[in-house]
Amino acid sequence: MTSRQPTVKPWGGRFSAATDSFVETFTESVSFDRRLYRHDIMGSIAHVRMLAKVGVIAAAECDQIVAGLEGIEGDIEAGKFEWKTALEDVHMNIETALVERIGEVGKKLHTGRSRNDQVATDLRLYLRDETATLRARVIEVMQALVNLADQEAATIMPGFTHMQAAQPVTFGHHMLAWYEMLRRDFDRLNECRRRIDVMPLGSAALAGTVYPIDREYAAGLLGFAEISRNSLDAVSDRDFVIEFCAVAALIMMHLSRFSEELILWISPRFGFIDIDDAFCTGSSIMPQKKNPDVPELVRGKSARVFGDLLAGLTLMKAQPLAYNRDNQEDKEILFDALDTVKAALMAYAGLIPAIAVKPEAMRQATLQGYTTATDLADYLAKKGLAFRDAHAVVGAAVQYAIRHGKDLAGLELEELRRFSDRIDADVFPCLEPAGSVKARDHVGGTAPARVRQAVKQAREELSRLCV
Ligand code: ARG
Repeated sequence: MTSRQPTVKPWGGRFSAATDSFVETFTESVSFDRRLYRHDIMGSIAHVRMLAKVGVIAAAECDQIVAGLEGIEGDIEAGKFEWKTALEDVHMNIETALVERIGEVGKKLHTGRSRNDQVATDLRLYLRDETATLRARVIEVMQALVNLADQEAATIMPGFTHMQAAQPVTFGHHMLAWYEMLRRDFDRLNECRRRIDVMPLGSAALAGTVYPIDREYAAGLLGFAEISRNSLDAVSDRDFVIEFCAVAALIMMHLSRFSEELILWISPRFGFIDIDDAFCTGSSIMPQKKNPDVPELVRGKSARVFGDLLAGLTLMKAQPLAYNRDNQEDKEILFDALDTVKAALMAYAGLIPAIAVKPEAMRQATLQGYTTATDLADYLAKKGLAFRDAHAVVGAAVQYAIRHGKDLAGLELEELRRFSDRIDADVFPCLEPAGSVKARDHVGGTAPARVRQAVKQAREELSRLCV
């Protein structure tokens, strides 16, 4: 490990030897936390404005610092800013550049502040913005699901339990099940955002500060809903990052389940759907292949987000109060979860409209597997037979139908009557998938009319969520 020309560090006063070059690389975070630059500058501007308001610095000094920070932001945006690893992180890079740019007065920026409350503030500001973007992405997917549900409100498919054809359902109803899951994810995102929206600034390193700060004023400038109530807690806990990862993990879990279904359905063994060429990829060796790589990757990427959640929990679990450098590790975890969930939602917003439903294949699959057997039992129960007895009667009828290679609806009335003389000619609509779904006509049921009603409600809900 070589020693080199020492870089002057903002914290260098008590050191007489230069930092080992490996240690410099090992401890730096600027390679990834530079992503926070806008929010870092925003936080610094609010901080100096507050210092000026309470008279800790002069108004003219505040103006100079604000102008300097805005200039730096412009340079970063124009790609003219030189990030230095030796200056460790986004905070020290910007502060050092400020002093270079405006001279001695720049050294007053860090009065009454620590990087500990600074980084916690930056991260909350950043994540507050990102959750707003993410909400919009979730809504796009919800909208795509509603459109497809509307279009396929009466399309019949087999519903499954244990991966066995169970009862007929409508494709629209199935799509709205995914809508409901994302609706809850949307709520969770909002809840999580409420807890992100708390300002740590003013907590300083861990114990607060001796200056007569006005935290409410700074919070007002930054648009924070609340200020933190305990300085030790505010600089040390990253539960808001972990909670965000948990929300992201749930979204990915839902998208992963959805992916699994699309992958099955596009397989020729099912053949329930096709996906537009633009959303599939081919094989480098097998010319005939059209692969559902987009849902497969979403399913695969859920693994990383689950990992991010576990990494966040483990990062935090043994940390004593207050700030520890361990917390620097929170950023890559958070950025990865955020980027991954955002990309997965974008993929789905495009993928859903690219789904072409194949109603005939689904209808055929519904006709195999005696999916209306429950309807026959319900028919008998309505005619006065106890449901448990009706269940046994239909079981025997299914056994008979299997032996004769027929569907229940394919049996003659006399054949059906061998099992119960309560069966009359009015039984046949119940044995048809269309009759089966139509009869499930209640809130939460699969009847096409109910699906259309649910679509209407979802559209109203979406127009409220969008504002
Ligand atoms: N880069 C650091 C982080 O992400 C900033 C805070 C540094 N604080 C300190 N006391 N070394 O956590």
